[in-house]
Amino acid sequence: MRRHLSGILLIATLWPVQAMAAGDGKTEAVKPASGNHPLKELWSGTHYSTPEVRKLQYSDSDNPAMKLFGKGEALWKKTEGKAKKSCSSCHGDAAKSMKGTATRFPAFFKLTSRPVNIETRINLCRTKFMQARPLSPESEPLLALSIYVKRQSKGMAMSVTGDGPLKSFLQKGKDYFTTRRGQLDMSCSGCHDKYAGHLYRAVKMSQGHANGFPAYSQSKKKTGSLLPQVNQCLVRVRATPLKAGSEKLTNLELYLAWRASGLEVETPAVRE
Ligand code: HEC
Ligand code: HEC
Repeated sequence: MRRHLSGILLIATLWPVQAMAAGDGKTEAVKPASGNHPLKELWSGTHYSTPEVRKLQYSDSDNPAMKLFGKGEALWKKTEGKAKKSCSSCHGDAAKSMKGTATRFPAFFKLTSRPVNIETRINLCRTKFMQARPLSPESEPLLALSIYVKRQSKGMAMSVTGDGPLKSFLQKGKDYFTTRRGQLDMSCSGCHDKYAGHLYRAVKMSQGHANGFPAYSQSKKKTGSLLPQVNQCLVRVRATPLKAGSEKLTNLELYLAWRASGLEVETPAVRE
């Protein structure tokens, strides 16, 4: 009974509002890359933002997260660790070597037989190849390098098929997304597949894509990876938060990348 009631109360807060028209030419729906997809058309989170927030995102000089891009560029060239190497010693010009990388991540990492996201891949290069310490989750240098790497794919379509060795991990990520949890007994899918375009409290709910992360949050006044965003959603339904670098998070990120395939990489996005 309690479960039933809380569900009704939550839905009662989800008022339909008119979806923002694509009339300003800034956002467009795309067809999902896979036929077997929960959504008929994909809209980036930017579509649901206010015009002011969009303007901020599109301006390299005003987007607050672009400061981290500059820091990432400096870190890319910085020699660190016992091997006395920088990222650029091996990868050269990021505009060439990292172009397209963000469109196919999380990717399978053979040595550990698991998918890894960009942040974990960066730390693997640091520990294995540079003999440098790994950067902590949500730390400024890790966010900076992640933004610097992902930005090299700006405007390119996400393209994660999740087949081959990724298949079972993708399925786990999908199961996580569609399973009800928390005191409110809601799944990610219950909000983002069903109620995109509706108001959740005062916020217009998007389809919950990850193509703009790391992103700057105006309300939190800081830039964060996908993790704090997902954990904020988990808190919304009063469920247990996920841990950085955990298998659950990577599998979920893999499913989100598959689910967003076709949408452009927009890192770093700006959100309310
Ligand atoms: C009770 C409804 C609700 C549930 C359940 C929920 N979210 Fe959200 N989510 C929101 C709201 C509201 C926002 C902020 C507005 C927006 O961007 O959609 C949000 C934002 C997001 C975003 C940011 C999208 C962007 O473009 O900035 C992602 C990613 C996301 N959610 C993923 C998830 C995942 C993964 C789960 C399951 C663990 C989940 N959400 C569960 C309501 C929910
Ligand atoms: C000693 C050489 C070396 C150094 C230094 C190094 N890497 Fe790598 N990196 C590699 C190799 C080898 C690969 C795997 C290439 C492949 O799979 O095709 C790789 C792969 C990557 C990838 C995945 C690329 C893709 O498209 O799949 C990213 C992202 C990356 N490195 C980032 C970094 C960053 C950021 C740094 C600096 C903190 C760094 N690397 C330092 C050797 C290095």
